[in-house]
Amino acid sequence: MHNDDLIGLYEIAQIANVSPAAVGNWRKRYSNFPVPIKQLQSGPVFQRRQVLNWLRSKEVPMAKLIALFNNKGGVGKTTTIWNLATSLAEKDKKVLAIDFDPQCNLSIAALGNEGFSSFLESSKELPYGKTIRSFALPYIQQSAPGVPYIDKPKVAPAKGKLDIVPGDFWLNNFSDILNVGTDVIGGAGLYRFLMPSSLVDAIEKEYQTLYDFVLIDLPPSFNTLVRAALYSSDYFLVPCTADLFSAYCVGLIGQVLPRFIEDWEQGKTRFLQSNSYDQILPKKGQPKFGGWIFNGFDTRKKAGSSEIEKTGADRAQFEKVQASIEDQLIPKLNGIKPYKAVPEFVGKIPVANIEDLNVMAPDSIVQNVPIKYLHQHRPTRDIGRGTWSQDQKNLMRKMDEEYDKLADFIITHF
Ligand SMILES: Nc1ncnc2c1ncn2[C@@H]1O[C@H](COP(=O)(O)OP(=O)(O)O)[C@@H](O)[C@H]1O
Ligand SMILES: [Mg+2]
Repeated sequence: MHNDDLIGLYEIAQIANVSPAAVGNWRKRYSNFPVPIKQLQSGPVFQRRQVLNWLRSKEVPMAKLIALFNNKGGVGKTTTIWNLATSLAEKDKKVLAIDFDPQCNLSIAALGNEGFSSFLESSKELPYGKTIRSFALPYIQQSAPGVPYIDKPKVAPAKGKLDIVPGDFWLNNFSDILNVGTDVIGGAGLYRFLMPSSLVDAIEKEYQTLYDFVLIDLPPSFNTLVRAALYSSDYFLVPCTADLFSAYCVGLIGQVLPRFIEDWEQGKTRFLQSNSYDQILPKKGQPKFGGWIFNGFDTRKKAGSSEIEKTGADRAQFEKVQASIEDQLIPKLNGIKPYKAVPEFVGKIPVANIEDLNVMAPDSIVQNVPIKYLHQHRPTRDIGRGTWSQDQKNLMRKMDEEYDKLADFIITHF
């Protein structure tokens, strides 16, 4: 047996994100915990694959998949993923962010333009580059096992883990290959739509990591990519901005999502008639509403006080969106029969309030630095005086705290 196939208690603890003592407890508590291959002076060693299989199948919670979703563009899906992923990692969580948007904004923000471009390049050895395509294309063609690639963001969190699956403009083609009629409703290609969750499984195996959270970035549409991500996910979060269309879009989500689920249920019933042994499929196609995020609103000082409040215009928009969540989205989601789509802990109140970060938002992307660390970097030259003002630093800190709070909410409830 190759040495890489062996693993000690300390390594197991690292993979499972627990203390070595906890692994010791598992060994005592679970009679089916793998038996050591041999006993070294440093302790028992196990066969890696056996241990991973045990961890995956049994006692360690599976990664929670979370899709960031709104059919409206420019509402902050990508910005939220990037900053939320950083906050989760800094709370010592293992996080995977998947760029499932053909626009690839997340990849460019996190990996930098040059870094990302290098992943797109194909060669004889890497016919599909080192992006999501190298897994997804063979997966969909069932030609060969897909090869999953991950990379670290240019500015990586000090704690936990944050890996990125680079996106690819080819995702537009992938979206065209998926077919709602035959694959979903007909039931013949449900697994094609589970590509995102199969990708996570493949990455966990290949890189021997069990993630706590997987965040999936999506294009602004209701297309097949969005369906695939939702069918694969445990939760979805909906970022909204303060504008006329946000309330309307929220209503639309309420109309469309139950139909997505209906399609899935139809296909699932057909599929399970001839594949009754399948253990995975019955657990998919049940994305729950994880809450909405109010993003990019303006504030002003309250008259005669130093307190901050939403400007009148944005307060009005906020109330419209909130009403739409309460009167349209939640009731429609509650109408979904096969599972409870709105958990007890979610209501009309947003799960995060992110103010307008102004020039700091695009500059954070240009510099590939999440808001959490942006104060440590000088602004790009064309912004102001070459240093951040105190007000800007204060706002960065305040919004970073909001992302941290959102991370806590997710850790506690999801
Ligand atoms: N809170 C915010 N304050 C200011 N600008 C923001 C904020 N959130 C996002 N932006 C900017 O708005 C644009 C769209 O955001 P993005 O996250 O790419 O949205 P989406 O992924 O939904 O299309 C980007 O230029 C981004 O920098
Ligand atoms: Mg985006």
